[in-house]
Amino acid sequence: MSSIWINSLNYENSFERLTKNVSADVCIIGAGIFGITTAYYLSKIGYKVVVVDRGKVAGKTTANTTAKITGQHGLIYRYLIDSQGKDLAKQYLFANEKAIKNIKEIVDDERINCDFEIQDSYVYTNDSKEVENIILENEAVNSLGYNSQLVDSTELPFKILKAIKFSNQAQFNPLKYVNGLIKCITNNGGKIYTDTIVYDINEEKDELITHTKYNKINSKYIVIASHYPFINKLGYYFLKMYQSTSYVIAVDIGDNIFNGMYINTNSPIFSYRFANFEDKKVLLVGGADHKTGEDMDLTGSYQILEDEVKRYYPKAKVLYRWNTEDCITLDKIPYIGEFSNFMKNVFVGTGFNKWGMTSSNVAANIITDKIREIPNEYEDVFKSTRLHAIKNSDEFGNMIKETTNSLVLNKLKIPKEDIMKLRNGEGSILEYDNDRVGAYKDESGKVYIVKPICTHLGCLLTWNNLEKTWDCPCHGSRFDYTGKNIYNPAIKDLENYTFEI
Ligand code: FES
Repeated sequence: MSSIWINSLNYENSFERLTKNVSADVCIIGAGIFGITTAYYLSKIGYKVVVVDRGKVAGKTTANTTAKITGQHGLIYRYLIDSQGKDLAKQYLFANEKAIKNIKEIVDDERINCDFEIQDSYVYTNDSKEVENIILENEAVNSLGYNSQLVDSTELPFKILKAIKFSNQAQFNPLKYVNGLIKCITNNGGKIYTDTIVYDINEEKDELITHTKYNKINSKYIVIASHYPFINKLGYYFLKMYQSTSYVIAVDIGDNIFNGMYINTNSPIFSYRFANFEDKKVLLVGGADHKTGEDMDLTGSYQILEDEVKRYYPKAKVLYRWNTEDCITLDKIPYIGEFSNFMKNVFVGTGFNKWGMTSSNVAANIITDKIREIPNEYEDVFKSTRLHAIKNSDEFGNMIKETTNSLVLNKLKIPKEDIMKLRNGEGSILEYDNDRVGAYKDESGKVYIVKPICTHLGCLLTWNNLEKTWDCPCHGSRFDYTGKNIYNPAIKDLENYTFEI
């Protein structure tokens, strides 16, 4: 299950592993679109940059996004005005609109062939109970000095009741874009190392040190661009964010092409856009979101999307299926800026809330300006050390509940024999010899046993029956069935046990 982007090009996403100590002006931890864009801006103005990533370049969220470049982030502006005031809401909107222009400028200046195209963006509803929300949101956006429009019809293949249109937004192929940036970075003298896990950072004398298993990187500045920050101390991001999983299918619907990028307002979420693939246009349908690690049956996640498309295009052919994880902040605003008040010259960008194409560019610009020690007009909006009162009480309550439930190990009373009852392809938490174990039996009957305790901060993991992974409900770390860590903030693998049947 890999994304259409991964399948659309011979992507140069692997570089050498770091095998010696190196130094740079700026060490960027994480080679997703945010880390790579930051490296691009800094290397272009003469900073010596080193980028390190535990996996491949842009191998996780960037490779699996739907890549809509828009300032229309669902129904956010009325919420921002109510919770943070009009000035902040306006700054948030204009920062994201500026990001669209910035990305276009990079694509044009560097001649990056990444299928960039201008498209209008719509938030729509076909639920009569949501119409009022759409109308109020449109009024809120207009009150910020932005000309969005209320419309009653779109090019979607079904009737809608109301939609808000943002004109002149954009879309692209994110991996082709990142590939273009990589060429610029290496031409500018920047270095990229992949398959290199960073375990810690610290300060020694006047330098910052980034520690990998055997080597270190000395630098004046560090940018933590690792999706969910894996360093717990000082920043405390684990108290402020959780992760959400969503699903995408790429569908061939023949010549039934329509313009625009779309998302609806209520559950289940559906998002639509077209993408170029092998000389044709295919429809990307995203949605079916849920909190990562939620204890639920996930086997129908792709089917929800497929059923929806087939209502309008019964002959639609699904080409690819994939899923992704996004960091969600409790106040719906990304964290961009100083990692902590207690760590000088360490910066972070995280919590892009599923809108990472524009947010990553906003973050790269703010952090580049911070390193250059020049003011950025949007930095206060995204201040990463903020302690706003959380107005989004639903999300806060949800996070606390999940964390508490998971830290206190549930008292499951499953007899030892139940491990024998697991069907092939099934996984479960079992009580075994007075201990709790995570067991998975593969299709051939081989059993894999792990300690189902997250190596980030010790929450009890849940079994993901779609992806065959152990997922953490607290902050969204994920592990494959052998215990290998595949999503941060955890960086260590699970303990595993041998088991004899
Ligand atoms: Fe934080 Fe699991 S991801 S405890």
